Amino acid sequence: MSDQANETIAGFTAWAPTYDQTVAKEVEQYSGLPYEEMLKRVVKAAGVTPSAQVLDIGTGTGALALAIAEQLQDGRVIGIDPTPEMLHRAERNVQRLGLGDRVELRTAAAEALPFADASFDIVVSSIALHHTTVRQTLPEIRRVLKPGGRLAVADMSRCEKWRSTLGVLLMPLLSLYYLCVKRSMAIVRAELAAYEQLFLKEEWEAMLAEAGFASIHVEEFRHPTSQWYPPVVILEASK
Ligand SMILES: C[S@@+](CC[C@H](N)C(=O)[O-])C[C@H]1O[C@@H](n2cnc3c(N)ncnc32)[C@H](O)[C@@H]1O
Repeated sequence: MSDQANETIAGFTAWAPTYDQTVAKEVEQYSGLPYEEMLKRVVKAAGVTPSAQVLDIGTGTGALALAIAEQLQDGRVIGIDPTPEMLHRAERNVQRLGLGDRVELRTAAAEALPFADASFDIVVSSIALHHTTVRQTLPEIRRVLKPGGRLAVADMSRCEKWRSTLGVLLMPLLSLYYLCVKRSMAIVRAELAAYEQLFLKEEWEAMLAEAGFASIHVEEFRHPTSQWYPPVVILEASK
């Protein structure tokens, strides 16, 4: 595993104990889009059918996998994540909601999915792809999707302001501010490691097309008042 991947896992290991209590506030603070609303949009874009086989990439504590599971009858959702501490919490959440018959959790990374070609009807993910190497992840997702299968993703996108001269100068201060908020250097390192994997709407469209996806639709949600926060993108595509 690369140093960067280890750094990401260390960051989420540090965040795991407080993740469920803090993630919703952070997503809404940065994008203006409520976390629950973001998950609902992914579930809707996924077009879940009762018997679908679904993969949730970077499932974390399982929020999206659980929202999908509620739509299933004899279908199944598999949540993968490389951070065992996040998966332990996901397992607890699955048991608490009594959805163990529809949700399976596995330790794995998006860049090398441990599944045969054409295994899934739907692949979903929320605020996780920027922690992966996206140009490796997209062909992997396409490989495990069945022909005609759907991809539905929410992710943070790139904030153009950060690449301006002022942004580059302010980046150390922004990192320091984030360190004060999170009180964990491991989390700050994980977020900084993900910086190069934040993309603009147009870049997502181009990468999805390059990876061979069709029917691509990307919607961007910007913070209503600040241009300094990264927007959220909701991606939809099919194989
Ligand atoms: C911000 S959390 C998102 C969790 C959850 N999907 C949600 O909506 O709250 C990002 C997750 O991506 C996972 N992750 C990091 N690197 C990954 C990789 N290479 N492949 C898959 N997941 C990864 C992290 O362990 C973490 O649980």
